[in-house]
Formats: sequence, C-alpha cells, structure tokens
Amino acid sequence: MKTETPVVKYLADYKAPTHKIETVDLEFHLDDTQTQVFSKMKITPVNGNTLELNGEELKLKSVKVNGEEFSNYKEENEILTLTGLPSEAFTLEIHNEINPKANTALDGLYKSGGMFCSQNEPEGFRRITYFIDRPDNLSVFTTKIIADKKDYPFLLSNGNLIESGDLEDGKHFAVWNDPFAKPAYLYALVAGDLAVIEDTFKTKSGRDVKLQVFVDKGNEEKSHHAMESLKKSMKWDEERFRLEYDLDIYMIVAVDSFNMGAMENKGLNIFNSAYVLASKETAEDRNFFGIESVVGHEYFHNWTGNRVTCRDWFQLTLKEGLTVFRDQEFSADLNSRSVCRINDVRNLKAAQFPEDAGPQSHPIQPKSYIEMNNFYTMTIYEKGAEVIRMYHTLLGEEGFQRGMDKYFELYDGQAVTTADFTHAMSVANDNYDFSQFRRWYDQAGTPVLDITTKYDEAAKEFTLTVNQSTPATPGQPTKEPFHMPFLLGLLDSAGNDMTLALKNRDDQNDLDRGLLHIKADTETFVFANVNERPVASLNRNFSAPVVLRSDLTDEDFVFLMANDNDDFNRYEAGQALALKNIHAMLKDENHQVDELFIKAWGSILNDNNIDEEFKAVCLSLPSMIDVAATIDIPNYRAIHEAKDKLFKLLANTYKLELASIYNDLSTERPFKVDAKAMGERKLRGFALACLSTVEEHKELARECFKYATNMTDMMNSLSVMVNENLPGCQESLKEFYDKFKDQTLVMQKWLSVQASSCDDTTFDKVQELMKDEVFDMNVPNLVSALIGSFARNKVQFNHESGRGMKFIAEMIRKVDAINPQSASRLAGAFNDYRKMPADLKEIAKAELTAIVESDKTSKNVYEKLSKTLNS
Ligand code: PHE
Ligand code: ZN
Repeated sequence: MKTETPVVKYLADYKAPTHKIETVDLEFHLDDTQTQVFSKMKITPVNGNTLELNGEELKLKSVKVNGEEFSNYKEENEILTLTGLPSEAFTLEIHNEINPKANTALDGLYKSGGMFCSQNEPEGFRRITYFIDRPDNLSVFTTKIIADKKDYPFLLSNGNLIESGDLEDGKHFAVWNDPFAKPAYLYALVAGDLAVIEDTFKTKSGRDVKLQVFVDKGNEEKSHHAMESLKKSMKWDEERFRLEYDLDIYMIVAVDSFNMGAMENKGLNIFNSAYVLASKETAEDRNFFGIESVVGHEYFHNWTGNRVTCRDWFQLTLKEGLTVFRDQEFSADLNSRSVCRINDVRNLKAAQFPEDAGPQSHPIQPKSYIEMNNFYTMTIYEKGAEVIRMYHTLLGEEGFQRGMDKYFELYDGQAVTTADFTHAMSVANDNYDFSQFRRWYDQAGTPVLDITTKYDEAAKEFTLTVNQSTPATPGQPTKEPFHMPFLLGLLDSAGNDMTLALKNRDDQNDLDRGLLHIKADTETFVFANVNERPVASLNRNFSAPVVLRSDLTDEDFVFLMANDNDDFNRYEAGQALALKNIHAMLKDENHQVDELFIKAWGSILNDNNIDEEFKAVCLSLPSMIDVAATIDIPNYRAIHEAKDKLFKLLANTYKLELASIYNDLSTERPFKVDAKAMGERKLRGFALACLSTVEEHKELARECFKYATNMTDMMNSLSVMVNENLPGCQESLKEFYDKFKDQTLVMQKWLSVQASSCDDTTFDKVQELMKDEVFDMNVPNLVSALIGSFARNKVQFNHESGRGMKFIAEMIRKVDAINPQSASRLAGAFNDYRKMPADLKEIAKAELTAIVESDKTSKNVYEKLSKTLNS
C-alpha cells in the first residue's frame, strides 16, 4: 500500500525566494559511481536567516559558511534547511557526492553510453548539488571539470572556456564561465570521447559565432543537416524577430539516452540523437524535418526561455507555447506554409484534443501539480502555441512583433509570468484589451462552436450564428466564454471571396482580413449586399483551436475542397466529408460511400495545379483518433475496418491514376531534402499505400523496398508490407535488420513499425522483440519505439481479451523502477479509461488500482493514473 500521498504544489502558494544565489563556482571530479561535487555560492539574503536548499539522492559531505565549518542544518524530505545564517551577503560551500552510473532516471548528471551528460529541467539540478532549484533564482555559473583525459577528452559546460590544462594521473581539467545569469535548469555539463563538426555564423552585427555539433565517433557525416538547420535558425531569428545570438560559441551534443527531444541549456544544447543524426540512408524525410524544427526550437529558446525565463513552473507555456509558435513559423517560412499548418493542426487534433477531453486535461497554465515532469504536455506546448498564434492573428504580424520588442524591453534578464507577456503585447498595441482573452490560460477543454447559416435572398443578407460552449473538465464544471479570432470568407459561385460588410456591427476594421471576434456565448453576424447564396469558409487557417460543427452541406464541402482560397479549409473540407462517411459506415455496414465524396477525392488526385505534398495530405483519411473523438465508447477495431474499407474503395476506383502518379514519381532523381523533393516522396509513398490494397499491385511494395535508395522509400514500403501482410514482408524485415542492426535509431523504426500493426499477431511479436539484442529497457527511445508503439496501437491495446492493457500495465511497473518519466508516458495509454467498454474497463481498473496503491510507484505514474481512475 502507498503509505504517504505525494504533496500537491499550487500556483496560488507562490512565494518569492528568501535568498538569491548571485554566483556559484562548481568543481566536478567526475567518476562513474562517486563523482565529487564542490559548490561555492555567493548568497544575498532577501528575507530572513533561514535558507532551504533542494537536494535529492545526494550524499552530503560538508558545509561551510564564510569559510567556517557549519552545522546548523537538517536534511528532511529532500530539503536541506540551514538556520541562523548571516543577514549580510555570505559564501556557502558545500561538498557532496553523486552516483551518475546509478542514475537511470536520466535526470541530473548521468551516463549515456560512455559519456557524462546532464538534464536539469525542470528539477534535475537538485540531483547534482544542493541549490535553490527554481527558475526565479538566477545565478552566474562557473564550472571546473576534472576527469580522465583518455576517456573524456572533451569537457564542456555553458558559456565560454576560460582555462584548461593537464593534471597528474592522466587527468585534465577545463573551466567554463557563463556570463549570463540563469536558473539552474539551464545548466549543463558534458564529458566524453566525441567527434565534432564545426562551422561559424556571422551575426547581423558582425560577430563570429563558433558552432559545434558533438556526436559519437563515426557519426560526423550524419550531423551536417543539424548544423545547416542551426545556421538557418540563427539567420531566421535575426530576420523575422530581429534577435541576435549573444555568446561567441554555440554547442549541440547528441546523446542516445534522453527523456525528451532536446534541451536548450545556455550555449550547450543537449539533444536526443534522434534529433541530430540523419543521412538519406538512415533517416526519413519526417526526421529531416523534425531535426530542422527541433534545432530551431532549442535555438529560439535562447531568447524565449533563457534571456526571459519563467518565474515558476506553472508558467511553463510562457516559454514553450511561444517557442513552439516560433518554431512552427520557422518551418512554415522554410517549407510549405499550408502543409505545415495542416500538419500542426492534425497533430493538435490527434494528441492535444484527446488530452484535453480526458483525465489529464489541464489549462495551459495549470493551477497545481504533483510531478512537474508530467506537465511537458501537448496542452502546454501545442495548445500554448495556438494561444500565441491567436495573439498574432488578433494583432497582425506588425503588432505582434511590436509586442515582442516590448516583451524584451521590459523583461530581458528576468523570470516572469504569462501575465507579463500579455501585458507587453497589450501596451505595445494601444492597450489592447486581453482581459477576456486571458481565459485561454485558465480554462481547460476544447471549445465547441456550433454554427448555423441563413441566406435571405430578398434582403441579400447572409446571417451567421455562432454558439460557443466548452465541455466540463476535471475540477472545472462550468466555463466562461472565450474571446477568439475567427477568420472567415464568403465564396461566390465562381469561388471568389466576396467583399465583407457587416450590417449589425461597427467593428469593420478587421473585416478586410476576414476577422470576426467571437466573445459572447452566442454571436450573430449579418452580412449585407450578399448577391447570391455564398458558401462560408469558416475558421480559416484554424484561427481558433476549436471543434467546429456547422450546417454546411456535403455540396458545400465539395465546393470548398475544390475552390477555397484558404488551403487549410480545402483540406479540412475533405476531412469533414471523409469523417461523415466513416461515421455512416460504422452505423451501417452496408452504407454506400457517397459518390460526391469519391468524385471530389478524385478531382484532388487529378488536379495538376496543386503540389505533391499538399495533395498527399488532402487525400489522407482522418486518423482513428479523429473518428473516435465524437463516439462515447469507440470500437477501434470497427473504426480500423471502416477506414480500411473506404481506403480500399478509393484506391480501387482510382487505381489507374494512382499507378501513373506512382510511376511518374519513380523515375530516378537526385536526393534532396527540400519541400519539393520531400513532397514527391510523400505522394509516391501515399500512392504505394493505396495501390498495395489493389489485387494486381500486391508485389509493388516489396519491389519498392528492394530498389529503395533512401530510408523514406524504405520505411514507406516496409510499413505497407507489415500493415497489409504483403508478400515479401518477412524477408524485408530480415534484410532490414541485418543491414541496420548496429544503428539504434534505425532499429527504433524497425521495432516501431512491427509494434504498430493492427494485426492480432502483433502481441506475440512484441514479446519476442523485447528479447532481441537491439532492445534495451534503459533507453527511452527504445521503450517508446517498441512498448510505446504498442501502447498507442489502439486496436491491440484495446484487444477484447484484455491482454494488451495488462501487458502495458506490467510494462509501466517495470519501466517505472528504471525511469519514472518514461513509465509515465506509457501510462498515457490509459487516458481512454472513461471511454472503454465495461469489461475492458474492469480489467483496466484492477491493473491501475494495484499500481496506484503500490509503495513502489513513482510520483509521476501515481499522479497520472490516480487522475485516470478518478475520471
Ligand atoms: N525544454 C525542452 C524543450 O522544450 C524540453 C525538455 C523538458 C527537455 C524537460 C528535457 C526535460 O525544448
Ligand atoms: Zn521548448
């Protein structure tokens, strides 16, 4: 039984720190199991003579105040409390010991392969030494690292190298100083025997910045894309946001064992190697894209996160929502803007909407947490970015940039709140009133807009009635209406946008760009001088992150698919029609798919005026999650079968066209990673997936696999073979394994594709793969690739027998003993708990109750699963 319930932290309890650590000089004597840490801090008291320092899993050796042995302290509940301290500035020296090798949680200082590395966000630094480990304590860090020279030729930390040299016994040292005061979560240390590629970037003011990417030896050739991405990020931030880099050196280190994607430590980013390493033979296009976007994201944090940081962790979206918005815009400026927006929204709907509709639902600024690591969520990041995007839509690019300038003018070098951000946006824009808008920070749940339209032929008026509502979420039974920017167009029969004139409102100024403000529960907009019945293009570019329900007809959607001037809504209209058909198929097995939809799908397929990538996304069917979203108790097997049936029907209807697309795109062409080339490979892969369901093309995937010269084509064909159980599947898997078994990133793809198959043989397969030598339970990427993919495999996780969820429950327990963050992510598989059929729910309940009540369960898993059970 769980003996003590973990402590809940509340935003409302925020208190400023009692002391400030002005500077800290650290000295590390690196050792696998007994690293010595010496810390010397200059501290200014702010309030009182008692100082509480955080410390976890540390062995305290000695404490000195102003050079004298100090014994007025006690250590309890991971807090070191020192009492009777001087009232004037003083120095505090602490010596403690840590065990990096035993640190499988990968939080604090740990070992990844042969190298030492650190991860300190949000609360990892307290696992290195005693400290005021909160983001509103900003200190200047100096670090001396001492280690064996042969095993650890590179010794790195934040800022500038100021000294280095040899010591006796084969050891050497390096001293780093970071002139920018920062919170401990941005601190980093790396030591290892690495390879490095180097470049330089000249900033707009003419300074040369040294750029380095450190990787395992032998991976140098795979790190160039990351380096190019870094240079593009630096340039883009200067051009679009007028922000220049501030140190003379920027380092990125790739590690195989990492809990997240990457970390923005000042001047020394540490990356999951999945977001650094890429070659055409080993990485898919989505990996190339992901690297560019994550390198950008971490780089952009230098201003939004590091120069201006968070006051406390409830403000996480201050840096993450804003930085995701920035990285989305970066990707959109460098690639296809429309496709980027579509993919971002697809991602939001597939992962954030369900989160917001389930037991973990929380506002982008949560009010409480047990384990902060559980709050690096789709809501804080992606919904947070949507909220920033709404400021941008409301203010326009210029107004938004004025707000950003104000933000840095007011808050550079400080730890602030989301309210401070809103304040800057407001004062830079004639005191724009964001008071109602602020509800986006406090209220959880995805708002629903119900829209009805009416055309009055005689009066030439078009009336739009918008009703907003937000479902109840845990702890928030009722909601107040949101202020949302709603972009709209009215199309005439030729497909042109009509000029908008509102009859019943005087806020005409935003109308030129089709912007309506929705504020009340119900809003009515009457448009005048509408000479024919228009087709309304609603919520263009997904300007408000909501669920939209409207009275648009199938004919309207077909019209929008073909004619809308907003690419996002062209895509969205196709999704709406496909969804309608899938729902109808689920209700009635004999449902005849709408001819209108089949035709419209074909017109997109045959349209030579749209580029390949946009075509591929428009033709894709809605995800299983999209389909399940509106169903009380979804039957995933049935959803899978309905989607499959629709897909086969479309593929068979257009097999000639698809074959010609496939063949045209199969001609040999040089490998490039630009939007055009990636789009071509994407459409070719899509055509292959379609054709593989057609009797006469069953051999095509194997063929494609055999002659593939890049990983995108290889994985496209392999996943089709695995999912459809096509001829050549087993040989291909074997060949793939033999070729890549020494490359863990590629093996992650191999594991994931097999664990994702809806086929009933997948369960046994996964058990077998867990024993394969390429699998390692200690590496989060591998846990996610194999166990995580199975946990996300809706059909198999929800297998009628209950075996899928029992297995995942067992894995949560096993992984939790190694790495709570990794286990907590797996626990997300049970977020559907409330929507499970009764018999499965019973099974889930028994499993989850046992975990929640166990003494061995981490705070991370406890918080997630107790919320799940209470839903
Ligand atoms: N701050 C990192 C990012 O968003 C994410 C991260 C959080 C990494 C916590 C590690 C630990 O870029
Ligand atoms: Zn981030």
